[in-house]
Amino acid sequence: MSSGTGLFVTFEGGEGAGKSTQIRRLAEALRSRGHEVLLTREPGGSPGAEAVRYVLLSGAAEAFGTRMEAILFAAARNDHVEEVIRPALLDGKIVLCDRFMDSSRVYQGVTGNLEPDFIETLQRIAVNGVVPDCTVILDIPATAGLARVKSRNADGPDRFEKEELETHEKRREAYLDIAAREPERCRVVNAMQDEADIAAEILAIITKLMGGIAAEKTPVAVHE
Ligand code: TYD
Repeated sequence: MSSGTGLFVTFEGGEGAGKSTQIRRLAEALRSRGHEVLLTREPGGSPGAEAVRYVLLSGAAEAFGTRMEAILFAAARNDHVEEVIRPALLDGKIVLCDRFMDSSRVYQGVTGNLEPDFIETLQRIAVNGVVPDCTVILDIPATAGLARVKSRNADGPDRFEKEELETHEKRREAYLDIAAREPERCRVVNAMQDEADIAAEILAIITKLMGGIAAEKTPVAVHE
């Protein structure tokens, strides 16, 4: 385990993949089994990071370029990690986070055309050793995801939702590339299934992971 005694699970995916619904369902399922769960999100999750969230999602930072945005996402992430996530993990909680470092790799790195070294260095500083134990990637074709976003957004799209279909499809590929490169950490779930089926698949993934970790942690008897 990379991060204290708790369990750190992140949810990733393109727009309209159903992350928020699924993360809530997982939190409820785990709580009903008696686990202490902290549900959080990025950009945001701590007072400092929520202040930066507004600057990013309103598009106020867009004019200053992708590099500036990437650094702001990283600044928000580091605050969130140090103020909220790390303390919760040290407390033994299960932390579920809606978006984390892979969003920066995909949105700023791949579709923002930033150098991979720059993004990786930023992420190292931002997460400061708090790497997810598991990342659930909800996979959906860009057309289907965007159609869902349109139907729920009365105020119009935010800074990142308004981009071209081609960009969204590139992000989907970028997430699948990350999953292929880091199969130990990442689990790809087909987000075109029924909501309840997706929830069941995710719960099974996390239950299995917890079983594995519990087995690893089973203390070995010491004979004097
Ligand atoms: P949000 O309203 O939280 O939407 P979503 O339901 O899609 O998570 O918006 C977050 C937006 O910020 C989303 O379009 C992805 C983008 N983002 C980045 O570009 N980089 C990042 O590191 C993070 C965390 C989010």
